[in-house]
Amino acid sequence: MTRREVLAVPHGERPGAGPGLARAVDPSQAPDDDAQYDADLRPRRLDEFVGQADLVEHLGIVLQAARGRRQPVDHILFAGPPGLGKTSLAGIVAAEMGVGLRVTSGPVLARAGDLAALLTDLQEGDVLFIDEIHRLPRSIEEVLYPAMEDAKIDILIGKGPTARSIRLDLPRFTLVGATTRTGLVAGPLRDRFGFVGRLDLYEPGDLEAIVLRSAAILGVAIHPEGARCISARARGTPRVANRLLRRVRDFAEVRGDGTVTARTAHEGLELFGIDELGLDKVDRAILQALCERFGGRPVGLTTLAQCVGEEPDTIEDAYEPYLLQQGLLQRTPRGRAPTARAWRHLGAAPPEGTLF
Ligand SMILES: Nc1ncnc2c1ncn2[C@@H]1O[C@H](COP(=O)(O)OP(=O)(O)OP(=O)(O)O)[C@@H](O)[C@H]1O
Ligand SMILES: [Mg+2]
Repeated sequence: MTRREVLAVPHGERPGAGPGLARAVDPSQAPDDDAQYDADLRPRRLDEFVGQADLVEHLGIVLQAARGRRQPVDHILFAGPPGLGKTSLAGIVAAEMGVGLRVTSGPVLARAGDLAALLTDLQEGDVLFIDEIHRLPRSIEEVLYPAMEDAKIDILIGKGPTARSIRLDLPRFTLVGATTRTGLVAGPLRDRFGFVGRLDLYEPGDLEAIVLRSAAILGVAIHPEGARCISARARGTPRVANRLLRRVRDFAEVRGDGTVTARTAHEGLELFGIDELGLDKVDRAILQALCERFGGRPVGLTTLAQCVGEEPDTIEDAYEPYLLQQGLLQRTPRGRAPTARAWRHLGAAPPEGTLF
């Protein structure tokens, strides 16, 4: 099997990590070489992918059926919060189909010509992975429609009155898109995906299995209770679980004998400011702003983001899903508001009339 990977994505680019508002330096959040670890720890085949049982079952059927028919698999969209495995699944689709993988992302594809160049260079059956597909410019989306539907592409030759459009045949290929925001993927584009896989935050048991798997790959000695402690604070997110494992490994090496036990995990996570719900400094800053600064009144996303020194997109993509899942934050028509549980988590009594 030949696997050709073309990386057109600036690596390590994470929401909120780019230029923008200054962020507090928090060791548990430091980029480290997350991108490198992501690559090393990434599951390569479907049976290595832990959790998301329904999605894995459905995807397995879709892939097996396409293999049986010797056809490229239908176009697939993976949607869900950051760090849950969308990029990993794109690689898995290509690996399970035994085809090449081309990787790019919505913001990188600035001109229709860039996409045309990628598409015309594909081999029969290849997977083209477009990360952050909701950030694809509209004009480029339109180039994708005939490519996805009929494996054809219209190319404009020349300029002005003499310009003409020619239609080229493309090899049959599979488009795999990933998005943290299904709502921002234009309807006509979304409708052209034959399979939409939604990823939910992981259960603690699945995260525990992921921590144990990553520890084995990294050669870290770990007790099951140590893995349990890390997974309970990993915000339902494998990338966070892997990052916490690395911090706890550092702690265990410096303050212990290198083995991750329940105790070293607990102490290490405390030291790095991860509390028992898995909230980090930014999560707590959000709750503090909502409760203390705004007294529980609904606050607009932009104002909230400014208060904690993050981008609104980062708050919405990376922080809010977990705070919502934990019942700490609610979205109201007038803005974000803390729940009674948020007040209690900060050690304060909720004001009268607070929901939950
Ligand atoms: N189901 C899983 N089993 C094992 N490891 C996983 C799983 N899902 C994710 N991971 C780990 O989490 C890391 C992040 O996953 P991945 O990069 O695929 O997430 P993503 O959804 O593409 O994130 P983003 O939205 O930020 O691009 C991977 O490197 C891998 O180590
Ligand atoms: Mg990704």
